[in-house]
Amino acid sequence: EADSRLTHIKDSIRSIPDFPKAGIIFRDVTTLLLDHKAFKDTIDIFVERYKDMKIDVVVGIEARGFIFGPPIALAIGAKFVPQRKPRKLPGPVVSQEYSLEYGTDKIEMHVGAVQPGERCLVVDDLIATGGTLAAGIQLIERVGGEVVECACLIELSDLKGRDKLKGKPIFILVDFE
Ligand code: PRP
Ligand code: ADE
Repeated sequence: EADSRLTHIKDSIRSIPDFPKAGIIFRDVTTLLLDHKAFKDTIDIFVERYKDMKIDVVVGIEARGFIFGPPIALAIGAKFVPQRKPRKLPGPVVSQEYSLEYGTDKIEMHVGAVQPGERCLVVDDLIATGGTLAAGIQLIERVGGEVVECACLIELSDLKGRDKLKGKPIFILVDFE
């Protein structure tokens, strides 16, 4: 049963070659969102895993972590905290820079949104090089939160992004090599 759900989820994700640049195959989750069963099964699988893990906070990473994080948070009775691109959050923030394939980027989180000792689940749609997720984990740990696990719909396993997560567990539904 779990397997047929995962097959359907994987089939609902559209692959677009050479976007945003030559050589990249873009894994597009907007087609999964158009398929009610695929979207529902995705959220259900995460909720089944996390409902009894005493998660206080679901932390979602902009932008696609804002799609999958909130329905999980609501279903498991956790808060939701957004980590955003620079200069979007109006209050005091903690910032973390991270490296991309070329250059650097930054994400931010409101001070006080995660409290010391809170058990956090970090959600994004996809792990590629792992830089984004590693920065998200660092932001939480810098304010004293505990990262219990990371949850992503998609892993691009050839890029070995897991190695950047310092042994933090990551739970994945679909692998595109
Ligand atoms: C994508 C994706 C992850 C990140 C993964 O977001 O949604 O957040 O890249 O890449 P990494 O593992 O190599 O860090 P993107 O930076 O394209 O931003 P967006 O979601 O705002 O479009
Ligand atoms: N983020 C980084 N690499 C990606 C890819 N191949 N598809 C979608 N989002 C991505």
